Amino acid sequence: MAATAVIGLQWGDEAKGKIVDLLTEQHDVVVRYQGGNNAGHTVVFGGQTYKLSLLPVGVLRPEITSVIATGVVINPAALLKEIDQLRARSVPLGQNLLISDRAHVIFPWHMAEEAAFEAARKQDAIGTTMRGIGTCYRDKAGRTHAIRMGDLLYPDLLRKRVAEIAAQKAPVLRALDPQSAPLDAAQITRDYLEYAERLRPHIVDTTAWLHRSLAKGQRLLFEGAQGSLLDVDHGSYPFVTSSSSSGCGLHSGSGVPERNISRMIGVVKAYTTRVGGGPFPTELLDATGQHIRDVGREYGTVTGRPRRCGWFDAVAAGYGARVSGVDCLSVMLLDVLSQLDELKICTAYEIDGEQTTDFPSHIEQLARAKPVYRTLPGWKQDISHLRKLADLPKATRAYIDTVGELLQLPVWLVSIGPDREQTILA
Ligand code: IMO
Ligand code: MG
Repeated sequence: MAATAVIGLQWGDEAKGKIVDLLTEQHDVVVRYQGGNNAGHTVVFGGQTYKLSLLPVGVLRPEITSVIATGVVINPAALLKEIDQLRARSVPLGQNLLISDRAHVIFPWHMAEEAAFEAARKQDAIGTTMRGIGTCYRDKAGRTHAIRMGDLLYPDLLRKRVAEIAAQKAPVLRALDPQSAPLDAAQITRDYLEYAERLRPHIVDTTAWLHRSLAKGQRLLFEGAQGSLLDVDHGSYPFVTSSSSSGCGLHSGSGVPERNISRMIGVVKAYTTRVGGGPFPTELLDATGQHIRDVGREYGTVTGRPRRCGWFDAVAAGYGARVSGVDCLSVMLLDVLSQLDELKICTAYEIDGEQTTDFPSHIEQLARAKPVYRTLPGWKQDISHLRKLADLPKATRAYIDTVGELLQLPVWLVSIGPDREQTILA
């Protein structure tokens, strides 16, 4: 049994892509199992930077099979654009890419509905990526307005379904936003049949394929998107994404039971970031927050939005680790903290005068949470060229130890820069 999972423990953007890329050469298959093109994974490979959204990080290596499994929601136009961009950079993509016939399809009405719903929430907007992710998952759960990748391969069925769904959605969309573009069912059908023709060679029953792959003894690597605190069931609801983005989604999203996984790696940033709305107890709205944003280049890969930055929150990340069931940690972007005099880590929340280390289940409680900090000395020197744990400054090691101790997990890896070489195995 040699399956590995890489799971974000915060609000996404933990640099999971780098860890997946580092591990791909020890695996035969890389699997994306939830989310969609709301994810943005940056990988530096062969001296070049690649920004992947829907495609698993494995696609950069033709000898690896990359699987977009059942739990992912797919915008076919966005997927084809990504494939074409990679081909233009000489990354070959053929039968090494498999797409689940059970995965649900994002249609133009999903983006239109999301834009209208988000606008209606005004200052309470979730701050989504506007990719139609939540509205597609809503239709998946609702069943009556859903279309799966496998349906795209039956033209008559697709034509009928698109016509029915567009007829029901159009008046609702017009009522929500009279300015919204009308839904042209015939054009949408033509577009999606074209996408289907191009994607047809990749569309298979990935669940059966993964089971055969396991039986053959192939090594699987599961690439989580988003992070545990954005999980629709366990995250900071409603300021979450619409999939099971903690470790919980692995089984349902791939059809591979979790008992096949021998190693679950939890990925955390050495600080905390968030994109979009929702309470963020350790957020820094001062010069230190701006410093972290500048040094860490904390701007969204997908939407370009500046990310909200704050101190490491051990209450939130610890909760993410417990929900996901990870057995070790990768601490990322440690080099970003190098120039600060002192560093803070949140060890508990104070809510209405009471201290707790539980992550609140209600957003009103999370909004009232005041962080209780432990202050640690900074190291004030460049660490990005160091390659051994023993060579790191004492204060850096103390910081890493504190993160591991508070999360009660061994630190397996520390990252001190975007390159593969800027990695220290602990
Ligand atoms: P990666 O894989 C960070 C956030 C959005 C928004 C909320 C809901 O790069 O870590 P959605 O469009 O999913 O309905 O938006 O979730 N979000 C992410 N934040 N990293 C991501 O992915 C994210 N994917 C979605 O900003 O707050
Ligand atoms: Mg991202």
